[in-house]
Amino acid sequence: MTVTHPETSHAPTSSPDTDAPVGLWLNGARGSVATTAITGLLALRAGMADSTGCVTDTRMLRDAPLASWTDLVVGGHDIVDTPLEKKAESLVDSGVIPAPVLAAVRGSLPEVEQNLRTGYDARTETGPLAEVVERLAGDIEEFRARHGLSRVVVINVSSTEPPADHRPEHDDLDALTRALADPDDKALPASSVVAYAAFRAGCGFVDFTPSTGARLPALEMLAQRERVPFAGSDGKTGETLLRTALAPMFTSRALHVLSWAGVNLLGGGDGATLEDPRNARSKLSSKSGVLPALLGEDVTAPLHIDNVPDLGDHKTAWDHVSFEGFLGVRMSMQLTWSGVDSTLAAPLVLDLARLTAAAHRAGHVGPIEELGFFFKDPIGTDEHALAEQAQALAAWANGLDGHGDS
Ligand SMILES: NC(=O)c1ccc[n+]([C@@H]2O[C@H](COP(=O)([O-])OP(=O)(O)OC[C@H]3O[C@@H](n4cnc5c(N)ncnc54)[C@H](O)[C@@H]3O)[C@@H](O)[C@H]2O)c1
Repeated sequence: MTVTHPETSHAPTSSPDTDAPVGLWLNGARGSVATTAITGLLALRAGMADSTGCVTDTRMLRDAPLASWTDLVVGGHDIVDTPLEKKAESLVDSGVIPAPVLAAVRGSLPEVEQNLRTGYDARTETGPLAEVVERLAGDIEEFRARHGLSRVVVINVSSTEPPADHRPEHDDLDALTRALADPDDKALPASSVVAYAAFRAGCGFVDFTPSTGARLPALEMLAQRERVPFAGSDGKTGETLLRTALAPMFTSRALHVLSWAGVNLLGGGDGATLEDPRNARSKLSSKSGVLPALLGEDVTAPLHIDNVPDLGDHKTAWDHVSFEGFLGVRMSMQLTWSGVDSTLAAPLVLDLARLTAAAHRAGHVGPIEELGFFFKDPIGTDEHALAEQAQALAAWANGLDGHGDS
């Protein structure tokens, strides 16, 4: 089980450059990505697994002042009450979590379970959103105080929402705050209520989903006021990861890509959520910006997502790329990606917790564009090319001030 990857450095168990411990608050804590991240973190801490898949443990980020795995404490919100243990068992059955890993960490899951609270469910919650924000922020503040945490990073890994309709209040913090006090006004989607609560609690926020989250001018104003960092959106784990690595190859070799068509088949909670065309619009929008940005607006790039329940977390993406070379000769590339979605996503969630905590500690305020490496639709930058994103990430993270402002 403890296979060492050549790029994986063995980080010290505690770094002298951090004021650990640090909290990781997962919104959607009982879902597949969250449960895989929680189980994986406990396995790392128990020495049952190495950190393959975690970018923060590679040589690329060897000088970044990061909290150690043992210094991360997990809590979170969800709107269902499925015990973590049951969810982890279902992930064993579907081949996401190896059975010996769950057997080794099962005894530690109740510790995390004690830190989980009921989230905001827009379908059932009555009363003003201002009260919801106070309740969610209060849960996070209580978690921080109870565990003596230096800071908490809130990461949204809840179900993808439909795109939010724009409202004038989204552009102005005072107007938004007034709208939240009105019991009849649902002025924000759930992901943005969570971002608001995270900022109110003085936490950094990361959106691993394509939902609206912190991407509203009013919420950026709040992040600036509270002096906290944020990042997103939509983790880049599969087809889009490949595209951002391979599209620059065509342009750097002066090959003209005519079309790049993609089909995605997946099941699990994410597949079921994306079956609703309103939710799928958010995902398609975050995925579809990449190719025009890398190849130009004239590329034809149809994209489909289908829910195939029996696939569970085992996702297949087929891409067909048609391109033109010297003298207009036509060629094509076809590729099939077979990935286990939560296996790819979970280590990145842990990476983002460490990096966002380090940014917060170093006094970074507002969008962290250097974390664009992790996202399909990076906030604060139009750079999508994976190699450039990796360079920017390394230069930034290795240069962070490990002694911080607090
Ligand atoms: N797995 C990947 O590779 C990957 C990549 C990029 C983005 N994502 C995104 O990550 C998210 C999670 O994916 P998953 O496979 O874990 O999905 P999932 O359906 O297994 O889990 C989502 C969890 O969010 C909870 N939830 C729903 N609404 C909530 C709310 N308002 N507040 C708190 N919790 C809420 C659900 O109860 C569920 O437990 C999705 O939005 C997905 O698009 C996943």
